[in-house]
Amino acid sequence: MTSTPRAAIILAAGQGTRMKSPLPKVLHPVGGRAMLDHAIDAAEALGCERVVVVVGAHSPEVRAHVAKRLGEDCIAVQDPPLGTGHAVRAAESALADFRGQVVITYGDVPLLTAADIEPVFAAADGVAVIGFEARDPGAYGRLVMEGDQLVAITEAKEASPEVLALTACNSGVMAAPAGLLFELLAEVRNDNAKGEYYLTDVVELARRRGAPTRAVFADEDAVMGVNSQAELALAEALFQQRRRVAFLAAGVTMPAPDTVHFAWDTEIGAGTVIEPYVVFGPGARIAPGARIRAFSHIEGAAVATGAEVGPYARLRPGAELGEKAKVGNFVEVKNVRMAAGAKANHLAYLGDGEVGAKANIGAGTIFCNYDGFFKHRTTVGEGAFVGSNSSLVAPVSIGAGAMVGSGSVVTKDVAPGDLALARGQQTAKPGWAARFMETMRAKKAAKS
Ligand code: UD1
Ligand code: CA
Repeated sequence: MTSTPRAAIILAAGQGTRMKSPLPKVLHPVGGRAMLDHAIDAAEALGCERVVVVVGAHSPEVRAHVAKRLGEDCIAVQDPPLGTGHAVRAAESALADFRGQVVITYGDVPLLTAADIEPVFAAADGVAVIGFEARDPGAYGRLVMEGDQLVAITEAKEASPEVLALTACNSGVMAAPAGLLFELLAEVRNDNAKGEYYLTDVVELARRRGAPTRAVFADEDAVMGVNSQAELALAEALFQQRRRVAFLAAGVTMPAPDTVHFAWDTEIGAGTVIEPYVVFGPGARIAPGARIRAFSHIEGAAVATGAEVGPYARLRPGAELGEKAKVGNFVEVKNVRMAAGAKANHLAYLGDGEVGAKANIGAGTIFCNYDGFFKHRTTVGEGAFVGSNSSLVAPVSIGAGAMVGSGSVVTKDVAPGDLALARGQQTAKPGWAARFMETMRAKKAAKS
C-alpha cells in the first residue's frame, strides 16, 4: 500500500497576551505537558514525516522548545504575524521539497488527538477543514455549506446576519495537497475587516479553480482553543475527565475519580486501587494490582504489583517500588529502588540509593544523601533492619541482614549480619528521678 506522505504545520506565532503570563501561551501545560507538545504528538501520531512549527519573533522560549524536540529545520519564523494565511506561508520554504498532504493545526488546541484529525486527510483531495457545531458561535469563522460541500468560511467580522446565525464553525484545522495549498495562499489578500491574510480564504479560491472543498466534523470539546487562564483551566478539566473515564474503563478502581489528577503519560494497570486525592505528575507507571492510598503525590516513579503507597506518601523521580513493597505516611522516596517486600512505613526520607528485598526502614529514618555540594548513595541490603530515627550518612552501605540500632547516626559501612549502634550510651542513676521530684514538690509547696 502506498500512502500519501503527510506533513503538519503547527501555528504558534500568536502573542497569547490574554494569558497575562510571562510564559508563552503554547508552553503552558495541560496534563503536565506543554500544549505545543500535545499538538506535535498528534502530528507525529498521524504519521507526518515533516512537522513545521510557525513561531513568532517575540518568543525565543518557544523557538528553543521546538529546536530541542524537533530540531532547527522544523522551525519557521513569522515576523510580524499578519494572519493565519500569512503564518502558513511562513512554513512554505521549510516544505519546499515536500510533495503530499499538509495538515494545519494550532499550538493552543491541546485536546485534539490524531484520531480526531485523521478523517480530514481522507477529505483532502482538495481543501478540507474540521468543523464543529458551536454552542456559542461567537467570533468563530462560519462554515457556509451546500450539502457536504463547503462553499466558504466567513470570519464573524465579515459575516452577514444570515451567516452569523450559522452554528457550524471552523476549528482552524485544514488539510490540502501541499502544492495546491501554497498556490492558493499566494492569491490570498488582506483587504478585510482585520487587515489580515486569512487562511480561510483558500476555500473560495479553491472553488474558483474547481477544486473540491469539504468539511468533516469533530466534537467541540476536542477542538477547543486556549486563549486565557480560564480556558486553560477548562482544557485541564476536560483532559482530566477524559483520563478518568479511560482509567475506569480500563479496570482501575477509583472511589472518588474527580479528586484524582493525572499527567499525560500516567500508566495504571487494571485492578489497581487509586484512593481519593492522589496526584500524578509526569512519568508515573503503576502496575496492575497495586494500591495508591489517599493524598499521595507520584512523579517519575514506578510501582509494582502488590505494592502499597501512602496515605500521604511522595514518590519522586527515580523511585521504584518492587512487588509488595510498602511506602507509608509521610515518606518521601527519590531515586531509590526498593526491592520486593521492602518497607518504609512512616516518616522517612530515602534519597539516592537502594533498599534490598524485605528490608525494613524504621520510622524517621533519613538517607543523608547531600553534603551541600554532591549527592551520595545509600545501600541497604536484603533483609536488613534500620531502627527508628536513624541517619544514614551517604555514601554508606548497610549489609544484608544487618541491624542499625534506633537513633544511630551511621557514617561507616555495616557488614552483613552485624549490629551497628552509633548513639550516646544510656546510663542509669538508681532512684535519682524519685528523689529529684520529691525535692521539687517540697520546694513548690513551701512557696505557696
Ligand atoms: C481562526 C480562524 C477562524 C476559526 C478560529 C478557530 C482564520 C482567519 N480564522 O480565527 O475561522 O474559527 O481560528 O479558533 O484563520 N496565528 C499565527 N500567526 C498569525 C495569526 C495567528 O501563528 O499571524 C496562530 C495563533 O497563535 C493561533 C492560531 O493561529 O494559534 C489562530 O489564530 P487566532 O488569531 O486565534 O485566529 P482567530 O481569529 O481566532
Ligand atoms: Ca483563537
